[in-house]
Amino acid sequence: MNISIIQPPQVAWASGLFSGGPLIRKSTCIGNLANVFADEQAWQAYPPHEVVYEVDMLDSASTEGALYTGVTHLNPGKVGDEYFMTRGHFHARREQGEVYCGLRGTGLLLLQDEQGAARLEHVFPGSVHIIPGFTAHRLINTGSDILSALAVWPSAAGHDYAALAQGFSVRVVEEGGEARVKEINHD
Ligand code: PA5
Ligand code: NI
Repeated sequence: MNISIIQPPQVAWASGLFSGGPLIRKSTCIGNLANVFADEQAWQAYPPHEVVYEVDMLDSASTEGALYTGVTHLNPGKVGDEYFMTRGHFHARREQGEVYCGLRGTGLLLLQDEQGAARLEHVFPGSVHIIPGFTAHRLINTGSDILSALAVWPSAAGHDYAALAQGFSVRVVEEGGEARVKEINHD
């Protein structure tokens, strides 16, 4: 028998850059993030094509039971006093979880349950985040470097952005050079 040994794709841990595999890249710009940041005027003042984050995904199977692997590269920056962040989502299949690992930069992972209770975890190179099912998640870059985090999630999980159309229940802003967490009342 002649068993071939496959060269898998690689990720450079320090930068989160993939090599050696078919990739899909999705860029999200300021203009794609309407109604995400609190300061509408500051959002309008940005060039709409300014990139906020990019997700590189290995082009893998999307069948039930398969897993996707991707790295999010979230640029440093703020809209008004609010740090750049991903849109954030629940999984369409609510019971499906996900694992994030911090690779580069520093920031926060905002987690929120279906009742609106939020919690935050520090993200840093080497941090490991177990996101349970029924939990929305968003990355926030509170540092001055790119925040890169690797994620693995079930291909069948899907994304539900609409459920968070009125926003998460906390916002993270810079105040006096430090990150401050503000609670938002949606009532
Ligand atoms: O699967 C994930 O949770 C990540 O790969 C996110 O999709 C990525 O960080 C981009 O965030 P969002 O999908 O909320 O725009
Ligand atoms: Ni997800």
